[in-house]
Amino acid sequence: MCGIVGYLGFQDPKKIIIDGLKKLEYRGYDSAGIAVVDKGQTKRIRAAGKLKNLEEKLINEHFSGHLGIGHTRWATHGAPVEKNAHPHQVGEISLVHNGIIENYLDIKKDLIARGAKITSDTDSELVAHLINEEIQVTKNLLLAVQKTLGKLIGAFSIVVIWEKSPDEIIAFKDGPPLIVGVGEKEFFIVSDVQAALQYTKNFVYLEDREVVHIQNNEIKYFSALGAPLKKQIVQVDWNTEQVEKMGFKHFMLKEIYEQPRAVAAAIRPHLNTETHQVEMQTLGFVKSNAEIFKSIDRIMFVACGTSYYAAMVGKYLIEQAGNLPVEIDVASEFRYRKPIVPKNTLLITISQSGETADTLAAIRLAKEKGALTLSITNVQKSSIDREAHGHLYMNSGVEVGVASTKAFTSTIALLNVLALQIAKDRGVLTADQEKNYVTQLLAVPSQLEVVLAYDKYFSEAAKKLQEFKGFLYLGRGVSYPIALEGALKLKELAYMHAEGYAAGEMKHGPLALIDSNMAIVVVAPTDELIEKTISNLQEAKARGGKIISIGTGENAALQSMSEYYLSIPASSWMAHPLLSVVPLQLMSYHLADSLGYDVDQPRNLAKSVTVE
Ligand code: G6P
Repeated sequence: MCGIVGYLGFQDPKKIIIDGLKKLEYRGYDSAGIAVVDKGQTKRIRAAGKLKNLEEKLINEHFSGHLGIGHTRWATHGAPVEKNAHPHQVGEISLVHNGIIENYLDIKKDLIARGAKITSDTDSELVAHLINEEIQVTKNLLLAVQKTLGKLIGAFSIVVIWEKSPDEIIAFKDGPPLIVGVGEKEFFIVSDVQAALQYTKNFVYLEDREVVHIQNNEIKYFSALGAPLKKQIVQVDWNTEQVEKMGFKHFMLKEIYEQPRAVAAAIRPHLNTETHQVEMQTLGFVKSNAEIFKSIDRIMFVACGTSYYAAMVGKYLIEQAGNLPVEIDVASEFRYRKPIVPKNTLLITISQSGETADTLAAIRLAKEKGALTLSITNVQKSSIDREAHGHLYMNSGVEVGVASTKAFTSTIALLNVLALQIAKDRGVLTADQEKNYVTQLLAVPSQLEVVLAYDKYFSEAAKKLQEFKGFLYLGRGVSYPIALEGALKLKELAYMHAEGYAAGEMKHGPLALIDSNMAIVVVAPTDELIEKTISNLQEAKARGGKIISIGTGENAALQSMSEYYLSIPASSWMAHPLLSVVPLQLMSYHLADSLGYDVDQPRNLAKSVTVE
């Protein structure tokens, strides 16, 4: 979604803002702009397309001021052209906005009736008009913003500057994240801490309908009604190195290669590496983990995108290992379908960013319905993390590639731990089973290194994939969500049509699609369902389908029927998804890269979807 950087301090605002926007580049956008207050005047420069277009326009621009705002836009209202790019300026006011103003039509009608000249197709410009109208009367930016905030309905985060006041910046939000970076005599207002991480580690997270007002080195927080608020500074311990490519061609490739470390970081805090027992750290509920796991009757998972497929894996793990019913739902459906959340339900949201608008709305709805909630997030203190009763962290480090990889495997590793702990606390896991599963889980990071070492085979297989017109990804049991995730990765990165299917469903429709132009990618590690999957493949092969298979070790039956056979090490069924997804990630990566596509920022997609 849109990226925001606001700066008030003593350094060159152009440099700080452009550096910050670069850190947000990965989130996906279609235009960018900057506005700086320079000697009592606003200088505003915007460009459609990538950030480098804006940078080129800025080469000969020098600003003497120290107050500015910048923005990368992901179009919601209005095409991605320069006139719709942010910052929007109306009279003395400039602002940047992320989100949607839902009552924009009413606001627009009223503004036009009052004679306003609207120059863009955006809802954002209308807010600048409203604040500019107020400032003419009040001559006070804080008052003007407070009055305007009362008129806005929707999901938004906004940073405002006034050219008459070069030592003042104001921001407010209702929905998408906005965070204040507090440095030594300098302040950053950003949509993601990464944009300011190289200057400060101290951040304050704004809550919905809060306003931050910074003037003459003094920072104040207010409620929407103007009541002063005390806010806590949070120390963020990510370092800037974690946000660099470290020699990899793309962030996504780096993140795929970080999976051994990411998985280890996710599980180690919860496993006893000496006794090989599961000892899940406290989730932060009022009651102990064991009391919660013994008392619940069901789990409901809610998530979006790749996180939803991780949830689907969670269903198999917890139902099969923990003997507890699990429901799963995509957040955009859950929030609008009047869900029934029975008593004693633990609702778990999964979100790498912790900011996905639908998932956030879903957790709020579940709380209203009385559910106990647990969030699995990568970004600590993100909106979803703050909303939940209990917390579990992926500990993956920053994930920059729009297509999620290491957050997915870290989550599945955590779900392994969660399933084992639930099984143990509910008395359905013997000590031997526990030891066996934990031992196999602890081996996954080094097994992942082995899988990654075969990257050149995945890249060869990717070349083969270019020949095909369509792709069917198949799997059974815990490998079914991995087939779905594999198909998603191909769509996201290589823009090719792919469908994920439960292998047993093939004869109920997809078999009709199969001919020699159709590739069948099958996720078939050795488990109790392998024979059934092989029979399904025979049916496909008999109809001319070409098979690319992922199996355990040397599986002769699979090998003999496949154009390409990709091997993963033997593991427990619970850990299979952690290993089998990696060849799928790498095949899609290499295919997209060889086609010249922008792997880190696939077209039309965004990393953190903060609007519904
Ligand atoms: C976007 C991203 C996906 C991600 C999904 C959910 O669509 O492109 O990679 O899986 O959002 O994001 P979350 O941060 O909630 O996990």
